[in-house]
Amino acid sequence: MKNIVVLVSGGGTNLQALIDAQESGIISQGKITCVISSKPGVYALERAEKHNIRTRVIARKEYSDSVEYSKAILSALDEEKADLVIYAGFMTILDELVVKAYPNKMMNVHPALIPSFCGKGYYGLRVHEEALKKGVKLTGATVHFVTEVCDGGPIILQKAVAVENGDTPEALQKRVMEQAEWKILPQAAALFCEDRLEVKDNIVYIKD
Ligand code: GAR
Repeated sequence: MKNIVVLVSGGGTNLQALIDAQESGIISQGKITCVISSKPGVYALERAEKHNIRTRVIARKEYSDSVEYSKAILSALDEEKADLVIYAGFMTILDELVVKAYPNKMMNVHPALIPSFCGKGYYGLRVHEEALKKGVKLTGATVHFVTEVCDGGPIILQKAVAVENGDTPEALQKRVMEQAEWKILPQAAALFCEDRLEVKDNIVYIKD
């Protein structure tokens, strides 16, 4: 059984999708043992507590810079003996010292089809605002391994979602979450926990 640690910063709907997938047996070979938030008081923490999952707050604002913050996150992940670390709406970019300690063991969900609308500055609603500004007809979500390149790691799963006439950023965000993020993030976690993901030359292969 793999030990899953989830990193959050906000509402935690992706965390909820992971909890639901664990409870329904979609994730059968892994268990969420700890949720770590970069902000105190966020709803994701309540979601975890309701399901008796241990929570920790490591507040970004209490650290002077990204390296000091990353060291605190790394020591927490080591203490928790994480096999898989999932960024589920985690809005802080960590220093490469964390990524190097967990190569191909950290995954992130991003609300667009990478390599579109990704990288530094593209997070949350901002991603959907940019997609609407560009007038794309298809967007979606991507789950990828985290590397030192922001949103640049090997792609695990993607799902496309149609943009509709009259979409607001909020409406598009909701559709992308419902139709893509909440499905592919649990699927990717399940595949990892079943040892079915193999990375060769930055490409992810899914084993039968
Ligand atoms: C999600 O849409 C997630 O993909 C996005 O923030 C939202 C968090 O919602 N993440 C990023 O933009 C990361 N670059 P949640 O807290 O309800 O899961």
